[in-house]
Amino acid sequence: MNQAGKRYLLWFAQEHVEFRFQEINSLLTAFNITMDFIEKPTDLQPYWMVKFASEQDAKKITQRSVLLRSCIELWGHSNSVDGLHEMMKKFPEHLMEPHLDEDKSFKIEVETFCKHFTQQEKVDKIEVFEYLPYKGPVKLKDPDTCLQYIEYYGVDPNAPPESPYRVFFGRWIASGLRQLIKYLSLKTRKFIGNTSMDAQLSLLMANQAQIRNGDLVLDPFVGTGSLLVAAAQFGGYVLGSDIDYLMLHARTRPSRITQQVRDDDEGVKANMMQYNLEKHYLDVLVNDCSIPFWRDNLMFDAIITDPPYGIRESTEKIGTSKVNCKISEDHLKTHIPAKVEYSLSTVYFDLLNFSAKHLKMGGRLVCWFPIFRDDYSEDDLPRHPCMKLEANSEQVLTKHTSRRLLTYEKIAEYDNCEDVENTIKDFRYKYYETREESRQERRSRKAELRAKGRLEAERRKVTKLSE
Ligand SMILES: C[S@@+](CC[C@H](N)C(=O)[O-])C[C@H]1O[C@@H](n2cnc3c(N)ncnc32)[C@H](O)[C@@H]1O
Repeated sequence: MNQAGKRYLLWFAQEHVEFRFQEINSLLTAFNITMDFIEKPTDLQPYWMVKFASEQDAKKITQRSVLLRSCIELWGHSNSVDGLHEMMKKFPEHLMEPHLDEDKSFKIEVETFCKHFTQQEKVDKIEVFEYLPYKGPVKLKDPDTCLQYIEYYGVDPNAPPESPYRVFFGRWIASGLRQLIKYLSLKTRKFIGNTSMDAQLSLLMANQAQIRNGDLVLDPFVGTGSLLVAAAQFGGYVLGSDIDYLMLHARTRPSRITQQVRDDDEGVKANMMQYNLEKHYLDVLVNDCSIPFWRDNLMFDAIITDPPYGIRESTEKIGTSKVNCKISEDHLKTHIPAKVEYSLSTVYFDLLNFSAKHLKMGGRLVCWFPIFRDDYSEDDLPRHPCMKLEANSEQVLTKHTSRRLLTYEKIAEYDNCEDVENTIKDFRYKYYETREESRQERRSRKAELRAKGRLEAERRKVTKLSE
């Protein structure tokens, strides 16, 4: 195949920019596909110019990506509109012809990034392409060939340049999963809670976990099951567990302001049914993650989870601070176990240990990890000798805090990794410390302002009296 036929333009949504490399990398390794950059991309620009060995490879990656909007086979690109037309006039006809033959309907679409144009202006831009050797009929809905012309005016909508920085032309190949984000939106989901993960990030996590058709997937802090929805969407068979009985049975207070009481049929299963995914739903079970009840030889293909950070929900595990506590036979049947604090570092220590034990070799653990930004050092991230950290990207939450999406891959048998030591830092104390600090700062600033106000009022009174 001619070199030109192997060039592709990947166009991303301008959202979760930090996660682009990680998502595409995960998909490339999952499908065993090679991709080369034609030009090194920057973080800000929404496009990558790349090479794939085949159109099939480009399609496979695009159709599974949450962050990609579309992919086009790149026929031409330039720093100026004239430059692009010059280039297209010289483009080898035999590469275009199969797509522009008389039996092929087609249309040309115009996209302008960061600058608005009227419909007429867009039509004018299309008409310049009249030199193309198309022979088939124009069809605006579902044509055989969709050609795309893109003008890129940078990323600042308030100060776009007169002429575009970059222009691209090519044949549309595939779209990403942006539609799915809307379809799975929490806004229209039957059962949600305060900590439900939004559809886009859930799908992204499922991609990081490389979930394939038929995989067995677990979320050990399942909550309302948002991550299970995403995993099932990619063909995973999903299981979840959570310590909170009321949450699993959808008996907690509704989180929508408009809803007074939960519907009788709310729950994780109802969500699966809403999206016709019930065939992929195995179950959700009440379990304390610190004492997992799975049999030793049960192996998962992937574990995706969002553990509690102890900010919006408590982190607890079953236990008691009483010494030699024994429950009498009479009380055992109706006994509700007490809970003690489950420190954040122990949550992650247990999670990595559990994953090392229960993941298949090569299986992935994808989880969020909260950090204090000023303090962050990669050395403080949770580690386990059986689990290799494959990806680590940040989602900023506040000025001081963020969470990092961590992707681990199991690289060694659990039996070979003995006596792992817990060296994970607990973010929560720092979080509360900083909040306490800023609360104190706010208090003293308010007191200062009040004192200033009183002083001002006194001064005004004195001036009035002396007048
Ligand atoms: C951040 S939420 C997960 C939200 C979930 N991804 C969703 O979409 O709803 C963390 C969950 O961990 C659960 N949890 C807290 N401590 C636990 C423990 N010791 N064992 C199992 N689950 C626990 C909480 O009940 C909560 O539902």
